[in-house]
Amino acid sequence: MKPLSGKTALVTGSARGLGLAFARDLATQGATVVLSDLQAPHDVAQALQQEGITAWAVALDVANAASVEAAFDFIDKQVGGLDILVNNAGIFTSLKPQSIHDIDMEEWDAVMAVNVRGVFLCSRAAAKRMAIRGYGKIINIASGTAFKGTPLFAHYVASKGAVIALTRALSKELGADGIRVNAVAAGLVMTDNVMANPDIVNRLLQGSLESRALSRAQQTDDVTGAVGFLAGPQSDFITGQTLVVDGGSVTH
Ligand SMILES: NC(=O)c1ccc[n+]([C@@H]2O[C@H](COP(=O)([O-])OP(=O)(O)OC[C@H]3O[C@@H](n4cnc5c(N)ncnc54)[C@H](O)[C@@H]3O)[C@@H](O)[C@H]2O)c1
Repeated sequence: MKPLSGKTALVTGSARGLGLAFARDLATQGATVVLSDLQAPHDVAQALQQEGITAWAVALDVANAASVEAAFDFIDKQVGGLDILVNNAGIFTSLKPQSIHDIDMEEWDAVMAVNVRGVFLCSRAAAKRMAIRGYGKIINIASGTAFKGTPLFAHYVASKGAVIALTRALSKELGADGIRVNAVAAGLVMTDNVMANPDIVNRLLQGSLESRALSRAQQTDDVTGAVGFLAGPQSDFITGQTLVVDGGSVTH
């Protein structure tokens, strides 16, 4: 019996990168996983199925309330009760370093819509369903940048600060329903999209390496363990917390 056998997990933004790594890891722990992204990642789900993983795919724009409701209805009807939500979808890897004088309002709003409103909308939809079953795990993907105040990404840093604050507020609201809400704050992770963005790599990588107690590049597998722990029964008395997984750059 694996720790997540019989559980269903939705991971947002899981067509690639960290989200895909989280989904794969939860599946290896026994969960049925629902992959979701702006376009339903059917090809990724099929590839996982060929590895013996029970995986579904659904289109989900986390910033759009109607899309969120439609995706959660799909899960209700096709997959069954939701036990675990990983709020991973986010705008980061497409950003360029920009001063507060250069960030345009359209980009500010887009980052906030996905990174903050998206977490709010998906958490609300999940909480409604988890409350009926009296148990649930919500895991929000934050970033060490919120603790560091990394310059030139003001919208992103503010959005991840909001994710940490939302984690605390929702944990207090939803505890009575048996729903645990925690966050994982990753350091700079070398996902495919990060490596494809030289502006991010050039601006952030060297400083990250130098600031870490464990001074090496961070990979997706460095983060999956924390998410898996917070999704599983061993963390059932932990809620409202942010676990920083960045090789010891931030300590709190
Ligand atoms: N890579 C890092 O260094 C790092 C560090 C700390 C935190 N994070 C966070 O981890 C998460 C994933 O990062 P990544 O590097 O894998 O990013 P990525 O860009 O590779 O993947 C993000 C995924 O989210 C999806 N997405 C974007 N907008 C969406 C929306 N409105 N609805 C649904 N899906 C949407 C994208 O299509 C993409 O598949 C993000 O929240 C990011 O902020 C990343």
